[in-house]
Amino acid sequence: MSQIGPVQRQFGRTAAAYVESPTHARGEDLDRIVNLATEHGGDRLVDVGTGVGHTLRRVAPSFAAAIGVDATREMLDAGRTVLAGAGVANAILIQADATALPIASGSTDVVTSRLAAHHFADSAAAFREIGRILRPGGLFVLVDNFAPDDPVLDAFINEVETLRDPSHVRNQTVSGWRDLIERAGLRTTVDSDIAVTKLTTENWLERSQTPPDRAEEVRRRLRTASPAAVEAFQITSVTFAVRKLILVGRK
Ligand SMILES: C[S@@+](CC[C@H](N)C(=O)[O-])C[C@H]1O[C@@H](n2cnc3c(N)ncnc32)[C@H](O)[C@@H]1O
Repeated sequence: MSQIGPVQRQFGRTAAAYVESPTHARGEDLDRIVNLATEHGGDRLVDVGTGVGHTLRRVAPSFAAAIGVDATREMLDAGRTVLAGAGVANAILIQADATALPIASGSTDVVTSRLAAHHFADSAAAFREIGRILRPGGLFVLVDNFAPDDPVLDAFINEVETLRDPSHVRNQTVSGWRDLIERAGLRTTVDSDIAVTKLTTENWLERSQTPPDRAEEVRRRLRTASPAAVEAFQITSVTFAVRKLILVGRK
């Protein structure tokens, strides 16, 4: 089975839900990516795991050419509509695995990747590809969820995420994300690790079309969470929160 099979199955059937998803369509992290990418500037931007193109539609206008790469055809199909609706004319969408980007080495000024890397089956290989396509001096901006350093809390959130969506691979810790990117040859700095994504549990389960038995197990785990998990993930009867990282890598 292909490594991207689970991702394509999951996002192939849920693509439409990502067009309006508030977690994806807007957010301070999205505004920050736009600022970082624009301040750096350059000719070419690549957005890896572009989904329906929310990041791409915001950053593409600052570059001469922009490319969105994603493994799932249905997400890209929805993305074409999103980009057209936003009047973005300089972006193209390509179906490919993040570990095999069809883009020339050293050709790219800025790479962005938002809320996608926790699905990468081999994120080390994906970050190596990102390092390969960046030109010297190029900028990588990663936005993704991260797990607490406490291994019990790390296991709690990653297990809940995988129950909800089997294509979830791993929310790394902050140092885990940094290590992976540093090993790809980029110097990293944490731009922000204070944002949280507040999720309404039932909307979050619905967006992923989680089967009833797994959804019930997610609810049970949230209901019976330890006091430490309740505090770390701000768990209430209807919501919880995951922490979000903005990481900058420079080649
Ligand atoms: C939550 S969506 C992306 C959100 C989007 N970046 C945004 O800002 O709204 C995650 C995407 O990652 C893609 N993805 C997961 N693994 C991938 C891989 N190995 N290569 C390329 N795309 C991948 C999925 O197909 C999905 O479209």
